[in-house]
Amino acid sequence: MTAKPRLLVTRQFPDAVMDRISVSYDAIVNQDDHPLSADEILSLAGKADAIMCASTERFDKALIEALPDTIKMIATYSVGYDHLDVAAAKSKGITLSNTPDVLTDATADIAFLCLLGAARQAQSSAATLRSGQWDRWTPTQFLGVHVTGKKLGILGMGRIGQAVARRAKGFDMEIHYHNRRPVAAPGLEDAIYHSDKTEFLKQCEFLSINCPLSPETKYFLNEETLRLLPEGAVVVNTARGPVIKDTALIAALKQGHIAAAGLDVFENEPHLNPDYLALDNVFVLPHIGSATTETRNLMGFVCLDNLDAFFAGKPLPSPIG
Ligand code: DGY
Repeated sequence: MTAKPRLLVTRQFPDAVMDRISVSYDAIVNQDDHPLSADEILSLAGKADAIMCASTERFDKALIEALPDTIKMIATYSVGYDHLDVAAAKSKGITLSNTPDVLTDATADIAFLCLLGAARQAQSSAATLRSGQWDRWTPTQFLGVHVTGKKLGILGMGRIGQAVARRAKGFDMEIHYHNRRPVAAPGLEDAIYHSDKTEFLKQCEFLSINCPLSPETKYFLNEETLRLLPEGAVVVNTARGPVIKDTALIAALKQGHIAAAGLDVFENEPHLNPDYLALDNVFVLPHIGSATTETRNLMGFVCLDNLDAFFAGKPLPSPIG
């Protein structure tokens, strides 16, 4: 019997995933589930042939270059891979994979929850109720932004952006999008493409961020670009926090130019800028876009499908790069 490949497992993944790992791999598991530091990864990596990590572990150039030559593959339990230095991995001959597709619907659902929750003051009104401070219905309390029939701008018309757009069709929203190139997406033939960022932003009564984080998209929404959005716009982010400059968004929310924000992600996670919490017009969640049991199991299975394919010498289902 040939020895099983050795897999460094940086987090406690769902039971169904851990069970499948134990069948095919000799696993070195981070038992207490804290995100591993670079030093911790290096101290364990010499005993492994591959790593299964999450977006909470940053494999920058320095860490990738320092990895022992035993490491042949890194499978990330995420669709986003801004935490992996793809060029460094490539030059070191390390294969990478991610988990596209399986989390599209769960994440688009949370984008819509953030959109509706922000527009309709769901968090601040519920907080009033939960704290026992709601004393009666009034005609003017908790007034939100009307959603149906409004213009929704989608930044990044990939799988998740398209799934958000399809949900928005159910609210009779007019879809505008900004992307590297126009997209031919079934059911979204009437979505309006803007190659120009300024023209795009001017249309967005609602803006949903669905692009990857990259040097080009970091701080896409900043003091200057926020001003291009129509007065009273609602901003939603379920992609990566640093696509928005938090201090600029907070200032625009305080000033009122932006009516509300729905955020599943933010800068410096898990440390939310406390100014957000002082604002009634913010609906904020702790990065739960893909957090359904079904989706988190499937994400693990996609990681393992990639690892299994790699060790069997077969093409990967979802390679990066
Ligand atoms: C993803 O899959 O990219 C999620 O944001 C979790 O990291």
